[in-house]
Amino acid sequence: MPVDIADARTVPADPLSTERLAHRGLDYRVISGDDVADFLRAEHRGFIDAEPTDEVVADELAAQGERRIIAVYDREAVQPLPVATECSWGTSLTVPGGEMPMWAISGVTVAATHRRRGIARNMLEGELRAAAGAGFAIAGLTVTEATIYGRYGFAPATAVARVTIDTARAGWGPHEPSARVLFVDRDQLADDLDALHERTRGDRIGDIAGWPRRWREIARVVPGATEPRRIRGVRAVDSAGELVGSLAFEIVDGPSRDRHTFRVNHLIAATPDARAALWRFAISYDLIDTVEASLQPVDDPIGWQVHDRRGVEQRVRDHGWLRILDVPAALAARSMSGAFGVRLAVTDPLGLADGAWTVAQLGADGVRVEPLDEGERTDITLDVGALSAAYLGGVPLEALQAAGRVTGDGAKIRALSDALRAPTAPHLSIVY
Ligand SMILES: CC(C)(COP(=O)(O)OP(=O)(O)OC[C@H]1O[C@@H](n2cnc3c(N)ncnc32)[C@H](O)[C@@H]1OP(=O)(O)O)[C@@H](O)C(=O)NCCC(=O)NCCS
Repeated sequence: MPVDIADARTVPADPLSTERLAHRGLDYRVISGDDVADFLRAEHRGFIDAEPTDEVVADELAAQGERRIIAVYDREAVQPLPVATECSWGTSLTVPGGEMPMWAISGVTVAATHRRRGIARNMLEGELRAAAGAGFAIAGLTVTEATIYGRYGFAPATAVARVTIDTARAGWGPHEPSARVLFVDRDQLADDLDALHERTRGDRIGDIAGWPRRWREIARVVPGATEPRRIRGVRAVDSAGELVGSLAFEIVDGPSRDRHTFRVNHLIAATPDARAALWRFAISYDLIDTVEASLQPVDDPIGWQVHDRRGVEQRVRDHGWLRILDVPAALAARSMSGAFGVRLAVTDPLGLADGAWTVAQLGADGVRVEPLDEGERTDITLDVGALSAAYLGGVPLEALQAAGRVTGDGAKIRALSDALRAPTAPHLSIVY
């Protein structure tokens, strides 16, 4: 069921961050129109990219869609570029049992000339206050560095695996998938990825809505793309000829002409059979000795589908970070399993999500979340980051308890952990 998502562009810049940055001679603003071109140039600089051409900037400008763009200007700057950038938009997050609106944050950069003066802190705290004020119960981002965002209450809630396959050792196993694999050109590849993502993201807990330029970047049909002609695309079709899978890949030169690397840039499938067909295609490709694929689900069955699972290495790392802004709304937005009842206290240094509630599910009526009276005893205490990590069911509360992030009654912690558990490993399939 599609969810109603507020347009983030209507949300004004947070007054507290505006005031704090103004004291330092900095203007913190929501911008639009022509100013966004300089924002994009500053964002490229912040991410250590080369200076973009006007053509690249124009293409990116046209793709901003419903993004709310925040820029910070130094009144004494020589160039018109902002000294810090950041953008956000309302999207849909797949949760157990459905979808919910999420405030997505991206493009966080601070110019090297202005670093470590609290600009990022003010931008992030300002975002969270703005999102909470606009009624969003959760915010999310993907991170370049894993040590920055925990201090604002974000925590990794979905993990991904980087899969490396030694094709000669692994070898495709006895199961023969029935989907057929066909080459497509790069424009078609972008369309296939887009269509399949939108069709299947509701099945992937932790995934969010895509946008057309994300797929055009992966297919490298955007201006300024690096070595666009290296990208190849195939689709998987079922016996009725229906699109059921798509794979963007490139062949990277190896030490000799018969030892290349097959790099998966994106792999998506609507059925397990299509997924198997695309993996088999990659593993069986002639003149390839290694297949590499990042951002894969941590519970991918590939290890079971090859002859020798020792030929498949899966390296797991954090990927999707979440930050709960409204505990009762977030808990009510997802389904939980079994009957349980706990008294929960959540701490939040930013004061957005703290409080104490009874969280219970007794019959078929779903989860009930009610505030506790002041002074009432609680069973479980945890910080907002710990609850955000556990929210999608990919991180057991027991692990956070072992790390000192969750305290309280062991049986109640297990009961809530069981209730939160997801039927499949959460998987965010894109970077944003
Ligand atoms: C990361 C970046 C945005 C930080 O901006 P900044 O304005 O220097 O950050 P702040 O001064 O507000 O610092 C905020 C806090 O984060 C910490 N921090 C900042 N950058 C950090 C980094 N790279 N690694 C670890 N901690 C970092 C600071 O020590 C500070 O901690 P404290 O408030 O608890 O003392 C900036 O360095 C940057 O643009 N880097 C390149 C682009 C990038 O990596 N962006 C992040 C995309 S996910």
